[in-house]
Amino acid sequence: MCILAIETSCDETAVCIVEAEGDPNSATFKILGNALYSQAALHAPYGGVFPTLAKREHQNNLAPLTREALTQAGLFHPRAGLIERVNSETGANARDEHFKKTIEDFLNECEKPALDMIAVTHGPGLEPALWTGITFAEALGAAWGVPVLGIDHMEGHIVSALLKQVTGNRLQGTENSKSEPVTYHLSPVTFPMLALLISGGHTELVLMKGWFTYEHIGTTRDDAIGEAFDKVARLLELSYPGGPHIAALAKKARARGGNPFTFPRPMAKDATCDFSFSGLKTAVLYKLKSMEKISEEDKEHIAEAFENSARDIIVIKTKRALTETMAQALLVGGGVSANEEIRKALGEMIERDFPGLALHFPDKALTGDNAIMIGAAAYLRSQTDTMQEKKLTASGNLRLNPV
Ligand code: KG4
Ligand code: ZN
Repeated sequence: MCILAIETSCDETAVCIVEAEGDPNSATFKILGNALYSQAALHAPYGGVFPTLAKREHQNNLAPLTREALTQAGLFHPRAGLIERVNSETGANARDEHFKKTIEDFLNECEKPALDMIAVTHGPGLEPALWTGITFAEALGAAWGVPVLGIDHMEGHIVSALLKQVTGNRLQGTENSKSEPVTYHLSPVTFPMLALLISGGHTELVLMKGWFTYEHIGTTRDDAIGEAFDKVARLLELSYPGGPHIAALAKKARARGGNPFTFPRPMAKDATCDFSFSGLKTAVLYKLKSMEKISEEDKEHIAEAFENSARDIIVIKTKRALTETMAQALLVGGGVSANEEIRKALGEMIERDFPGLALHFPDKALTGDNAIMIGAAAYLRSQTDTMQEKKLTASGNLRLNPV
């Protein structure tokens, strides 16, 4: 099955072409084309994602990125000489005239490619950004007669943790004599499996008793963990997104040792699997306010102390959830799953307290937002037959469906 997948829930515009085959126990995903544009630098001056800007950027970048992904896959064939306005039905969902014209121009330029499905993120995320991807996907689907499936972004992060690269060395760019497209194999999974989803918008513990059955075990009561990383980064005058910068400073401090700072671990002792991160961020704020001068070393130590607290909260709550649910496997997904300190601590906890339990992290190339995870999730959905094609709506607060 050849799938065009689109992700526009936040500040990454991502498009890929995935060739998928096999049943969920032995699926493989060959990445024929992959084009991703991160808007992070544009949003950096605002200290976070600015929705109107994200929407405009997605609108401008979707067509060029789709052209690029199709070209990499050898599926972009210019339309022979015919330039005419596309049936206005095609762009009927476009909420914006300029965007509608961009879509029409793209459809005029490109011959219908051989695709079996278009997958698009329909939530959770920023609604104006989600609408852009949905509008584009539905216009292409209508013009080309290809079904369009809406995919939950968090389900994408879940699937991304299970994708293990088996062959290939080209994830982006066009083919040359030395390059071969990357192929991922879906790791075999044991249910019940606990999913720890840690990103800029989410901190969730979700139990999966089978594919696409979700039981919510714990969530954040206030800020998401990635949001806390980003806010603390801002307090330390580091640029957005802050997670990688905090991690880099913390690493320096850890190597030096002798950290004079400690911060609380909110809700660590509480009897639920819920999280809280806003108090931790506020503790950093008060500490900084109480200091007359803040040296570079202080910043590094504060980053380390913050990361230690965030790491410990994650480990304590995940351990509690594993004990309560008796899950047989743990998977970790979302942007914050790139964090080395959190990976290491979770690995040590599993080895110590749950020896033999399977632990899955995404490849580093797939921790952040991407379209590969959306295409892979769409394929698995289509194989398990639990999803019907329907008119899509952008749902900013979409929640993994409890079944
Ligand atoms: O999944 P993602 O790319 O986007 C959302 O769906 O939110 O996650 C982005 C979040 C940001 O808050 C970013 O600061 C954080 O992931 N992040 C990290 C690291 N890399 C990215 N946080 C901690 N350590 C990292 N190495
Ligand atoms: Zn994400």
